[in-house]
Amino acid sequence: MSAPGSTLGGHGLRTPPERPAWRRALDARIDRWMADPGLYRWAVANPITRWLTQRRADQLFEVMAGFVHSQVLLACVRLRLLETVATSPRTLDELSAACGVPASSLERLLRSAVAVRLLAARGGGRYGLGPLGRPVAADAGLRNMIEHNAVLYEDLRDPLALMHGGSEAAMNAYWPYAQSVDPQTLGNWAPDKVALYSELMASSQRFLIDELLAAYPFADHGCVMDVGGGKGAWITALARHAPGLQLKLFDLPPVAELARAHLAQGGLADRVHVHGGSFTADALPRGADLVTLLRVAHDHPDHVVQALLAAVHEALPVGGTLLLAEPMAEADGEPATADAYYHFYLLAMGAGRLRTPEELMRLMAQAGFTHLEQVPNPMPLHGRILLGRKSAGLPVESGSSREKSVNLN
Ligand SMILES: C[S@@+](CC[C@H](N)C(=O)[O-])C[C@H]1O[C@@H](n2cnc3c(N)ncnc32)[C@H](O)[C@@H]1O
Repeated sequence: MSAPGSTLGGHGLRTPPERPAWRRALDARIDRWMADPGLYRWAVANPITRWLTQRRADQLFEVMAGFVHSQVLLACVRLRLLETVATSPRTLDELSAACGVPASSLERLLRSAVAVRLLAARGGGRYGLGPLGRPVAADAGLRNMIEHNAVLYEDLRDPLALMHGGSEAAMNAYWPYAQSVDPQTLGNWAPDKVALYSELMASSQRFLIDELLAAYPFADHGCVMDVGGGKGAWITALARHAPGLQLKLFDLPPVAELARAHLAQGGLADRVHVHGGSFTADALPRGADLVTLLRVAHDHPDHVVQALLAAVHEALPVGGTLLLAEPMAEADGEPATADAYYHFYLLAMGAGRLRTPEELMRLMAQAGFTHLEQVPNPMPLHGRILLGRKSAGLPVESGSSREKSVNLN
């Protein structure tokens, strides 16, 4: 999976090997040449090179305008524009009356939304859904996530202050467990905060659930425990998918309360054992032959993930499996544009970070997992899937020759 010769740096991301001196000199010459305004003028004037220069300029403009595009999306979501035109295309005046926004400024938004393909002009002055607006109109979880990103934009107002850790990040305040999980003070967490993040997670999990069900034969197991399982959206889907499975859910006590209520509403109170506790302080319940960890590891620093993976290993029987799924960095061997979003989201959250598949597999190996593999899934943007097995062997010690011999590539 790594580029040949690349290594994992201390931050866990790939570090390509140093280039030879002749190659560095050539790179410097190319950099100078490419930044020369004379080259730009020549390339634009030349019909053969013009398309390349135009393409680069468009790409750079997209990066610069990204914040405006995300605000256009947010405004469309807040005004419920996409849901409104999904029922039938509307004119500017109809939308202005429906949204209570003056037609003169709403028109700017509608035209911008057409430009970024959220809306499409449908003739007769009507606006309908564009190709990128359709999934947003159809999925409440996606709309919740778009609204939630407003918290991140708040923190990114001053990216340098965020990087220096100087300001109180709004995202850090949003996730109470990113600050600390002290069993003595868990009871003081504002219930509405816990309910808010748990609802966001439940409503945004659908895409990952579809990925998991398409990629792995869960019905082959006897008992599945979802650690950090939130309100139980995944466990509910699993209960319906594999009626023979026994199910457990483990999460912090206030979230476990929400899960109990949610599962009871879905008629699953007898089918799922819900355990309230903290994986930083309490042993995990035993009895499951598959543990799932969905979008949990990236929220935590390495020492917490190490302890969590060790606790999962401890709770599993020999032959048991860990399935870890979440967005991962450089998962196709190269940085992807989605990486930038997660790097900054997790920086603002304040505790975790985006890891490469190799780095997560190394942490899994250190906890004792063997037979490590990445399971291909149809839409990896929603999360990558790693598997590890508990074998009868001893855990791999960090820095040992056995760790170096674990083939993670
Ligand atoms: C980002 S959410 C993911 C929830 C769910 N797995 C999903 O994908 O929607 C992380 C979950 O881990 C739980 N969590 C965080 N710290 C925990 C801890 N120390 N012990 C148990 N659960 C914890 C949170 O309460 C939350 O439900």
